[in-house]
Amino acid sequence: MSAPKSRSVLLIVGGGIAAYKTPELVRLLRKAGLGVRPILTEGGAQFVTPLSLSVLAGTKTRQALFSQEDEAEIDHIALSRAADLIVVAPATANLIAKAANGHADDLATTVLLATDKPVLMAPAMNVRMWSHAAVQRNVALLRADGIQMIGPDDGEMACGEYGPGRMAEPLAIFEAIQARLAQGDGPLAGRHVIVTAGPTQEPLDPVRYLANRSSGKQGYAIAAALAELGAKVTLVSGPVSIEPPPGVTVNRVMTAQQMLDACHAALPADAAVMAAAVCDWRPHAPANQKLKKANASLTLSLIENPDILAQLAAYGPERPGLVVGFAAETNDLAAHAAAKLASKGCDWIVANDVSEPGVMGGDENSICLIDANGIENWPRLSKIEVARRLAQKIERSLNA
Ligand code: CTP
Repeated sequence: MSAPKSRSVLLIVGGGIAAYKTPELVRLLRKAGLGVRPILTEGGAQFVTPLSLSVLAGTKTRQALFSQEDEAEIDHIALSRAADLIVVAPATANLIAKAANGHADDLATTVLLATDKPVLMAPAMNVRMWSHAAVQRNVALLRADGIQMIGPDDGEMACGEYGPGRMAEPLAIFEAIQARLAQGDGPLAGRHVIVTAGPTQEPLDPVRYLANRSSGKQGYAIAAALAELGAKVTLVSGPVSIEPPPGVTVNRVMTAQQMLDACHAALPADAAVMAAAVCDWRPHAPANQKLKKANASLTLSLIENPDILAQLAAYGPERPGLVVGFAAETNDLAAHAAAKLASKGCDWIVANDVSEPGVMGGDENSICLIDANGIENWPRLSKIEVARRLAQKIERSLNA
């Protein structure tokens, strides 16, 4: 995947030690043919010089909001207009707080407030700062405003502590930038796809739940592959421990009902790929307080969950043009999948044999794909390869 050469990134460098990694990011971006215009905050200039950024970017680094000379060249509104994407790396706790609350007291924050371009932030700070309620509140505000976060990573920090707070590596930020820019092109540009992934958790009481062993790997790989082809992807995800793919909007849910609501809220869509392992049942009446071990046995009363796939496939005028379901089977794969294609009313069923070792929770999958025309048997592939093949098939179908 590569972004077109004419694209340009406005790169805001905040005041954190991680700023020493930013010149490497500039180098990667320039090498890929992207234009980079750096903005250095006052704090950022304590860690990296404007000259090193300017030399690598091949253009002047801007610092001051009220610089007559700079404004005459290109004013701060034009700066954001000229960029396809705004990247903040490192995004410090202070920059995050100011951006979340709409401050505009320097060039960086003024540009962030004045822009209608997509914004990607790579937070970097001490682990305790990152986990502080105030920072998390601000990050949630920015995410709700549509700002994409990459990282922070877990690891040893410059301050000697260990945990989340390290800025994502320049290569990871570079890949996220490319994925985000590719959303504007690619054969699926302008298309919206909803993907569900992972298990659902159905509460039994405040501390217990019913769930399943789904890792979410296949659904996340599909979301990433569709984004690579330029689609706008809404990933409705049950609880999993996977990093969201770059350029994908993730909506995290717990229960089947929440997953259904999130899918409805994400409509309209050109396609929907339902890769989640939705719990078929939920406890009839989850207890408000922890169930106590009063008896030697306990009988649970379960009721059926809504069938998200079947509901989307029968959605009337807002039904996505292509609805793809999965079928996790342990036996008679093709027969069960064909029955599901009919009963769910979807267009394709991607059936996988979860009895094969290494499939459930692993990195490979054995697929057979069923549609009205018949069955395609795919060789055993990595989940990433399955995702790419499926994304290409979806692209051909939507663009046919
Ligand atoms: N699915 C769904 N909502 C549910 C159950 C399943 O959207 N409540 C979707 C899954 O995401 C998948 C497809 O339906 O795309 C088939 O899921 P699967 O668990 O294989 O089938 P079930 O319908 O649960 O049937 P069974 O468990 O009897 O095989």
